[in-house]
Amino acid sequence: MADLDDLREGNNFGLGIASSNNSFHVKGAENLPWGMKDRLSRIFNPKTGRTVMLAFDHGFIMGPTSGLERIDLSIVPLIEYADCLMCTRGILRTMIPPTTNKPICLRSDAGTSILTELNDNALIDVEDALRMNVSAMAVMLSIGDAAHEAKTIANLYKAVDKGARYGIPVMGVTAVGKDMARDARYFGLASRIAAENGANIVKTYYCDGFENVVAACPVPVVIAGGKKLPELEALELCYKAISEGAAGVDMGRNVFQSEAPAAMIQAVHAVVHDGLKPEQALELFNELKSK
Ligand code: 5RP
Repeated sequence: MADLDDLREGNNFGLGIASSNNSFHVKGAENLPWGMKDRLSRIFNPKTGRTVMLAFDHGFIMGPTSGLERIDLSIVPLIEYADCLMCTRGILRTMIPPTTNKPICLRSDAGTSILTELNDNALIDVEDALRMNVSAMAVMLSIGDAAHEAKTIANLYKAVDKGARYGIPVMGVTAVGKDMARDARYFGLASRIAAENGANIVKTYYCDGFENVVAACPVPVVIAGGKKLPELEALELCYKAISEGAAGVDMGRNVFQSEAPAAMIQAVHAVVHDGLKPEQALELFNELKSK
């Protein structure tokens, strides 16, 4: 057990001071080997350093979620607008044309269903990830969940070892149990634990004090969208996250459950890469929707 006497919470995040190791466009990646950098550059646009990942891995624990009943009808038409696709191997192999040529962030842990809460996940064979030519492997971390925390940290650790063997980056996905506070203290803890254990990308949620979460995380942070919001609110969420240092979004329901998913992902793209303000992005959304 670590010595917890006089353990103080961090409060000196150096906001506004650029990190010193920033010669590569992906935070924390400048010392990585060529293959890792190549894969990260497929995910994060080298011009903006940002990404719009389209997440549609929900079925692996939730079954046929609204909007994902027919991936061929709902998701395939959106692929052209995404920078990266996040899904499971089952959906990738059965539904996603190999000709799409988009980087894949593969959901690489198999969990239990939503019926049993947070996951005690098993991990994919890295050779299988390699066979699918993925650009990153995504692994969930259940921090603060006594029953599963150790197993999921060990999983992430193993994924990082396996990924390093073949130059495949790992994205740590911070899960939130129903009893956990969705605040900067929790997301900061979970994000930092993911990065300290070797994750090259962290996926977490936007919250008050998000800039501290990002500042204290040595690798890029992308946000999940969470439950479906009205379009303007979802675009505001993206805008705030990007303004406070997120390197992009890994968004699902706010895109594929939108009344106009193709218009929505393009509006999100404009916020992330072109710096559009939420109201401008909503205008774009409405314009594209009516075409
Ligand atoms: C769950 C995930 C999901 O992909 C994630 O939550 C993104 O989807 P949404 O924007 O719908 O929240 O990683 O572990």
